[in-house]
Amino acid sequence: MVGVDVYSSTDLVNWKNEGVALEVSDDPASDITRGCVLERPKVIYNAKTGKFVMWFHLELKGNGYNAARAGVAVSDSPVGPFTFLRSGRVNPGVLPLDLQTEEAQAKYTEVNYDTYNKDKDPQAEEWWTEQFLADVEAGMFAKRDLEGGQMSRDMTLYVDEDGTAYHIYSAEENLTLNIAELSEDYLSHTGKYVRVAPAGHNEAPAIFKKDGTYWMITSGCTGWAPNAARMFSAPSVMGPWTQYENPCRGEKSEITYGGQSTYILPYNGNYIFMADIWRPKFPSDGRYLWLPIQFDENGIPYLEYMSAWDLNTFKAVEE
Ligand code: DGJ
Repeated sequence: MVGVDVYSSTDLVNWKNEGVALEVSDDPASDITRGCVLERPKVIYNAKTGKFVMWFHLELKGNGYNAARAGVAVSDSPVGPFTFLRSGRVNPGVLPLDLQTEEAQAKYTEVNYDTYNKDKDPQAEEWWTEQFLADVEAGMFAKRDLEGGQMSRDMTLYVDEDGTAYHIYSAEENLTLNIAELSEDYLSHTGKYVRVAPAGHNEAPAIFKKDGTYWMITSGCTGWAPNAARMFSAPSVMGPWTQYENPCRGEKSEITYGGQSTYILPYNGNYIFMADIWRPKFPSDGRYLWLPIQFDENGIPYLEYMSAWDLNTFKAVEE
């Protein structure tokens, strides 16, 4: 494990290896010491500070997936070197906006994680009674994690047209997505955040905006095995988000053609859906699946498997 590698391209087809953007540390005391789990890094450019800011999912060495932290690093160049700043849970001591209403507070004050058997894995389906899901929805895990900050695993970043950046991550034992606003320099959280699809069990968020509507594609939670994608839309990043059908069509749509969403790249008014094809037995031989996002007659995004395509496909798809 070396850290986060970076490649560059001018045509999305030919790629140059630019080396290691963020190096893991040889200091055992560092949060990102070699042997940690560092997943799903994303980099955004801050036009005000002129800096490139990287956020990633971090699990501390030797601690499985228990830390559930977000890490942040900064650089003057997209190819690095990035300087690691810190890692931690998100927005300690702050309640999400959607749990601050009077109606939400009534349910929130009732729920208590201590009434559940903590020896059981909250991600195990056997645990998911109707009551449990209702309690998650009411904010049971948000409350449990309030003091130390919300868990942050699978994640992405999004910069809106007004320059405001958002951190979108799987919180609450991967049961609920959070969307948290970043500070002006993108290096910390402002405390303003919402929960999306509480108890919906979404990972792998990827987001784009088209014609004033925000679209988010996610996956379910099945470890490294592929599952069916989910899709949501909203009139603003902070919601409210509405869930749609699986955006994938055709054969193997129930497993996202073997991939799991990771990012959606805007390209000249079009959008490229990018997914990871994990190979857990040979992680470094993981592959990628990129597909053009198509839109139906109502403007709803969908995906179809294509064994080969190039940037001209966007034109062909539109005609
Ligand atoms: C599914 C997530 O989407 C991946 O990023 C990774 O965290 C694996 N789970 C770990 O099992």
